Amino acid sequence: MGAALAHALLKAKVSTVVWNRTRQRAEAQAAAGARIAPTAEAAVRDADLVLGVLRDGNVTRAVLEPIPEDAFRTSTIVNFATSTPHAARKEAGWAAERRMSWLSGAIMVPTPLVGQPDSLFLYSGERAPFDIHADVLKVLGGDARHVGTDHGLASLLDTGMLELFFAGMTGFLHATAMVTAQGLKATDFLPFAETMVDILPASLAGLARDVDAGTYPGTEDNLAMELAALGHIVDTSDDIGLDGRFPRVMRDLAAAAVDSGHGGHGWSRIIEQLRKPA
Ligand SMILES: NC(=O)c1ccc[n+]([C@@H]2O[C@H](COP(=O)([O-])OP(=O)(O)OC[C@H]3O[C@@H](n4cnc5c(N)ncnc54)[C@H](OP(=O)(O)O)[C@@H]3O)[C@@H](O)[C@H]2O)c1
Repeated sequence: MGAALAHALLKAKVSTVVWNRTRQRAEAQAAAGARIAPTAEAAVRDADLVLGVLRDGNVTRAVLEPIPEDAFRTSTIVNFATSTPHAARKEAGWAAERRMSWLSGAIMVPTPLVGQPDSLFLYSGERAPFDIHADVLKVLGGDARHVGTDHGLASLLDTGMLELFFAGMTGFLHATAMVTAQGLKATDFLPFAETMVDILPASLAGLARDVDAGTYPGTEDNLAMELAALGHIVDTSDDIGLDGRFPRVMRDLAAAAVDSGHGGHGWSRIIEQLRKPA
């Protein structure tokens, strides 16, 4: 990811210095026009915007910790290492103690989409450094959004978006295991899967409206009906002999809500089930 960010900057003719503990990985960037810093400290001293793209927060801190505080006086650090919201706040607290200008970042695209005008990058922390560096940050991903001053927010939204993404992909794969076990190819199922994806935006908008209102009217759907449908998924999965844990999670959430007397409510009522510890 560090290489992808450096390439995007160089393509946009932004003066770029790179550092990697394995020097030959930085050399590819040098061939594209970057300067190689011999140490992380030299890189920090050479830049007014420092993009940390190390494995995780612990590595980032281990690399930055030995650098004298004065090296950071004129630069803003954007920490792109993926984190939890809690850890991102702790990392930002550590940076604040050292009087660093620090933004918590989250990259929401894979490497091939870095540098594209609609690629989403999230930033949280103080607004001023984001505004100062917005032009360069937009080179990395044109959809650069400052999501709030709480340093945990970029990571929180990243975490939520990833959950949605993996749940969707896992649902697709379980459904694909069912249909391919009965003679269809995954590509036969794909157009049918896509019709469900197409109705999701409207469904999510309805769920969000209900959750914020704290009411789960059940005028368009109801949990008792949905429980029966989810039971069919579990039964079909079991009949074929698949791992049915994924549909069971959904079936069991619906069953618990129905058992608590909410069979007439809509699917949005599941939020109350999820808000309790299992
Ligand atoms: N790749 C993506 O699509 C993507 C998307 C969004 C967010 N991210 C986040 O971006 C960060 C980097 O991801 P990546 O895909 O670039 O991972 P990666 O290819 O594994 O690179 C990790 C980097 O961290 C360095 N590193 C690891 N341990 C180190 C240590 N102890 N001291 C110094 N440097 C160390 C590695 O150096 P060496 O080269 O010497 O090993 C390398 O430069 C991660 O937090 C990831 O979650 C990645």
